[in-house]
Amino acid sequence: MAKQIWISDIQDGNYDDSEVEIKGWIHRFRGSKKIWFMVIRDSTGTIQCVIKKEIVGEDVFNLLRNSLTESSLVIKGIVIQTDREHGRELQVTSGKIIGSVNPEKPYPITESAMEEAEGGETEFLLDKRHLYLRTSRMTKMLKIRSSVFSAIHSFFRDLDFIEYQAPNFVAGAVEGGSTLFEVPYFGRKAYLTQSWQLYAEAAMPALERLYTIAPSFRAEKSRTRRHLTEFWHAEMEVAWASNEEIMNYGEKLVRHISSSLIDERSAELEAVGRDLDKVSKFADMTFPRMKYDEAIEILQSKGVDVEWGQDLDYSKEKILTQDFEVPNFLTHYPKIAKPFYHRADPDDDKYVLCHDLLAPEGYGEIIGGGERTWTEKEILERIDEEGTPRDAYEFYIDIRRYGGVPHGGFGLGVDRVCAWLSGADHIREVIPFPRDSRRVTP
Ligand code: 4AD
Ligand code: MG
Repeated sequence: MAKQIWISDIQDGNYDDSEVEIKGWIHRFRGSKKIWFMVIRDSTGTIQCVIKKEIVGEDVFNLLRNSLTESSLVIKGIVIQTDREHGRELQVTSGKIIGSVNPEKPYPITESAMEEAEGGETEFLLDKRHLYLRTSRMTKMLKIRSSVFSAIHSFFRDLDFIEYQAPNFVAGAVEGGSTLFEVPYFGRKAYLTQSWQLYAEAAMPALERLYTIAPSFRAEKSRTRRHLTEFWHAEMEVAWASNEEIMNYGEKLVRHISSSLIDERSAELEAVGRDLDKVSKFADMTFPRMKYDEAIEILQSKGVDVEWGQDLDYSKEKILTQDFEVPNFLTHYPKIAKPFYHRADPDDDKYVLCHDLLAPEGYGEIIGGGERTWTEKEILERIDEEGTPRDAYEFYIDIRRYGGVPHGGFGLGVDRVCAWLSGADHIREVIPFPRDSRRVTP
């Protein structure tokens, strides 16, 4: 197969004055009866194509001139340097349409359609999500997202972690029953998993250092800028590790993701409006640590109505993190605020040895993790204390009967990290087909 020529390579000056063939989609057009201008887009960028009737001939000229936005084509031309803002141009010599657009059903995403949409622009674009993906902003978000995934894999693999998969159909909750999705399962009830963690703990004595990136599911009824019902979860589990050590992994991972984005996606970050200096700071600075009690005092001093013992919801994290420069760890939450698997602090068992990492600028929690309750005796106490039926957790308890060891891990919300690092207003901006309580289509 002939090597495809990318528009970005042309714009970088690799083909000046040569004749090239490019493949792409019509982004915009304008012109007259003799000269036609089309901006062509491929996955790497855009280029203005200048089509003159006297050069391409009447038939090709009319064909291109009658083709609508988002028609796909193969076009040949000479690369011309210009001093205009849009960069180089293609002086077209020939072209053919590959996939045409029916004039009775033109590409629906237009300025006027967005303005006139009955349910508002946001809902309109969500309805047309399958087409919205090709817009310049979404393309950039998807590239940033891809680099975040690749940075997570390289981080763990460079540290010799093993990638490990857990089932998505499960019998019990990890993060509390209120956000469980129930699915009919051959006459029984099953649930969609909220987290890979419990099954990862089963493999901890086999692999010692393991990770995944997989979907997790939460029946979140409220629609907020940081909640999805299906989100991508990067989780890790390590044998013999303390809360402190797990936090160090989390900090290094988030810094590694930030620096990878600076290396690979500076242009995209700037194009979506992110201040690169801020992202560089997330890559370079260390992340402060504070205890839950201290956070409650700060919130109370700001006049926030919060009581000791509550988990911090978004409204509170937003206020707390508004003035942070970099992510901060919050540790030692009250036991009553967290699920049974969190290990009680041996120094004061009102608290658990856990951490949440809160991103700055009001973004809030991006990581939740900590040490696990690892002895049989303590896990039974914690499960009973919580009033959780033991049945679904028999396997989990059993793991602790055969050479239990201290261990821990964390889960990082990949979509949340993408939203924060790209500066998106809403988590749905960074995932191709966002799922929330009101939408499973398209
Ligand atoms: O804090 P969470 O609930 O912790 C766990 O699930 C642990 N079992 C993880 C572990 O230790 N292996 O979730 C972890 C992270 C959150 O910090 C957040 O970033 C993300 O997952 N998250 C969500 N992201 C988008 N939409 C939702 N509804 C999310 N719920 C959690
Ligand atoms: Mg959490």
